[in-house]
Amino acid sequence: MAEAPTVPELHGPGHVAIIMDGNGRWAGLRNRPRLYGHHAGAKRVREIVESCPDIGVKYLTIFAFSTENWKRTQVEVSGLMALFRRYITKEMRNLSAFGVRVRFIGDRERLDDKLTDLMAELEGVTAHNSRVHLTIAINYGGRDEVARATKRLAADVQAGRLLPQDVDEETLPKYLDTCVLPDPDLVIRTSGEARISNFLLWQSAYSEYEFIDTLWPDFTKAEFARLCAAYRGRDRRFGAVKVRS
Ligand code: IPE
Ligand code: IPE
Ligand code: MG
Repeated sequence: MAEAPTVPELHGPGHVAIIMDGNGRWAGLRNRPRLYGHHAGAKRVREIVESCPDIGVKYLTIFAFSTENWKRTQVEVSGLMALFRRYITKEMRNLSAFGVRVRFIGDRERLDDKLTDLMAELEGVTAHNSRVHLTIAINYGGRDEVARATKRLAADVQAGRLLPQDVDEETLPKYLDTCVLPDPDLVIRTSGEARISNFLLWQSAYSEYEFIDTLWPDFTKAEFARLCAAYRGRDRRFGAVKVRS
């Protein structure tokens, strides 16, 4: 008798967020310009996104450009902006066909219209998908996000739509860019740096963290699967004491 096909057991982590770091060093090791590393890094994204269903990851959030990354040279910043435009144009069909719903977080005000138009188009084209929820953070900073959220919350208070005494920790996240997303279960940072660099400050209060030495352009789906498997062995207590049965 033929064996039944094995169906992967889907245990999550349901939401993984990745700080894709190390592109510049990866290029430096090859005596190539930093943008060469960014191009190599962008190419890694597809494999990781497409491995999500098998691993049981429903939400993937990736940090592509921080509110602090404007401090880099004009050549690098404009090269990255061009890369984002190219990535969206090139990947639009593939992401849609795979069933990926794409969202962007971050402040779009400072981005040029050509890029924000493409971002809106990709969000629109994939809006009906739900196999994987991919969120790309561009001009994103956790502090900036909380500040922008607070501004909108304050406007609602001023307009009488919200009472100050009703503001609690359920209220603020409704104003964050991530309002429709669950909190990340696991945050991965590549390249050996053990810091969060202003990523998902509010949302990652109880996330598990993995800081790994691999540079982002070398990150593979095998390593991704290994980190997700390790996550499943962790004991998340959320401040409580776990009662074992
Ligand atoms: C991460 O790689 C990508 C961005 C921040 C845009 P880096 O460019 O920070 O690479 P390193 O950290 O200099 O190696
Ligand atoms: C964080 O990496 C931002 C992104 C990965 C987009 P950085 O390379 O900018 O962070 P720092 O400067 O090392 O903290
Ligand atoms: Mg870096």
